[in-house]
Amino acid sequence: SRRLTTLDIARRKADGGKIVALTACHAQMARLIDPHCDIVLVGDSLGMVMHGLDSTLPVTLDMMILQAQAVMRGTARALVVVDMPFGSYEASREQAFTSAARILKETGAGAVKLEGGAHLAETVAFLTRRGVPVMGHVGLTPQSIHTMGGFRVQGKGPDAPRLLLEDARAISEAGAFAIVLEGIVEPVARAIASAPEVTAATIGIGASPFCDGQILVLEDMLGLSERIPKFVRPFGRLRDEIDAAVRTYADEVRSGRFPEEAHTYGERRGPPQE
Ligand code: KIV
Ligand code: NA
Repeated sequence: SRRLTTLDIARRKADGGKIVALTACHAQMARLIDPHCDIVLVGDSLGMVMHGLDSTLPVTLDMMILQAQAVMRGTARALVVVDMPFGSYEASREQAFTSAARILKETGAGAVKLEGGAHLAETVAFLTRRGVPVMGHVGLTPQSIHTMGGFRVQGKGPDAPRLLLEDARAISEAGAFAIVLEGIVEPVARAIASAPEVTAATIGIGASPFCDGQILVLEDMLGLSERIPKFVRPFGRLRDEIDAAVRTYADEVRSGRFPEEAHTYGERRGPPQE
């Protein structure tokens, strides 16, 4: 079966079916989630997940491309979208195209994602008219942590609802096939998701059930991350499982119970165990 495209995502929105998205940053995880996801995002959250960074700001285009290549090898069905990292697209639409072209050429991914509202609509239009499918990302945009003054939910305050809707509409009208809505209070997220002028599929993360789809950071929903935001449900408990497995391994190596006969090559040197 062929890989999903941005057109399939648009069709899913038109049909009213929910769009399932998760992040992945390496091949093994990507292979496990591919059968269940419509979109696999190589998010710049890999800076925290893989590299222990405090924010996504230090993530480079080379880091994104390397992990996107791995995720492409691990997937066959899902549409793979790759985050454009901080500093790779904001300076000009030409800079954005050069970075996006590297991503598409070097990874084979089907789309890029960039953070920002109305001020980036011109860039989104420039990319989409030149063959680069774009996913937008509005609301809480982690690459703007310094100007936002921390990770805080968006849409509060008198002008915020109107401005957020304008951001989403501008990115949608510029040609984005989908928009991540992150950390937005429910009434505003709902208004954006149901606005007829927002034709792009809305993919929520901490942005209410009214979006056309949902996305979470894989390691958060698996229960691997140490701290998770309020909007994440831990669907798994991998941290506990890994801790238990590694603890048992360490105990058995130290006590000599591992490796056993079954794990040993060649002739037995010790006395038979039967
Ligand atoms: O980097 C990321 O993981 C993201 C998603 C949370 C939307 O941008
Ligand atoms: Na991101």
